[in-house]
Amino acid sequence: MRHVIVISALLLVLSGCTAIQQQKAQPPRPDDLHFHNLQVLPQNIARKDLVDIMKGFTRALGVRCQHCHVQTAETPKETFDFPSDAKPKKDAARVMMRMTERINTQYVAKINNAHTTVTCWTCHRGHTQPDIQPSAPAAAPVGGGR
Ligand code: HEC
Ligand code: HEC
Repeated sequence: MRHVIVISALLLVLSGCTAIQQQKAQPPRPDDLHFHNLQVLPQNIARKDLVDIMKGFTRALGVRCQHCHVQTAETPKETFDFPSDAKPKKDAARVMMRMTERINTQYVAKINNAHTTVTCWTCHRGHTQPDIQPSAPAAAPVGGGR
């Protein structure tokens, strides 16, 4: 049992969620509250941490911010209504965030010596819809190796 606890603590460190986990423990201070409609991420998340997470989403899904967020202008500068929930993809992303956290804390954390955690990239790999076709098996090495 102790083993499991130690490993899950380690996995939290490895998953890069430490900052978020630590912030969850502190009550939000009014001057930390940059954002208005967070339902999954901690209310007092630092702007840099939030933006890093958002950039991770765009890379993992191969999309831009407007895939999930309402764009209010294209010129002279792209602007968005980030707190708006008008786009259903944003809610889909919340479901996915909760799912991914659960996969890691309830399942991956129980695998002894797991060396990684599940992220959006694990499934999406640059696409909004994960691959459904397994990739071709690796060709048998010619000459049987040395
Ligand atoms: C795959 C969907 C998705 C993409 C792509 C995405 N976001 Fe988000 N974004 C979300 C979700 C979901 C939330 C709300 C998280 C929550 O409820 O805790 C959010 C919240 C935010 C917020 C906080 C809004 C508030 O005040 O509540 C900002 C700012 C933001 N995103 C910026 C960005 C930027 C900048 C990009 C592009 C680099 C981006 N997002 C790309 C899904 C996405
Ligand atoms: C265990 C695999 C898995 C993981 C991990 C995962 N997803 Fe997904 N995601 C899916 C599947 C499967 C679908 C449904 C795709 C379809 O439409 O057929 C999906 C759909 C979505 C959609 C709606 C489809 C669209 O057009 O945008 C969004 C948004 C999304 N995922 C965001 C995320 C984000 C953000 C993360 C990380 C927090 C994430 N997903 C992690 C498997 C995964």
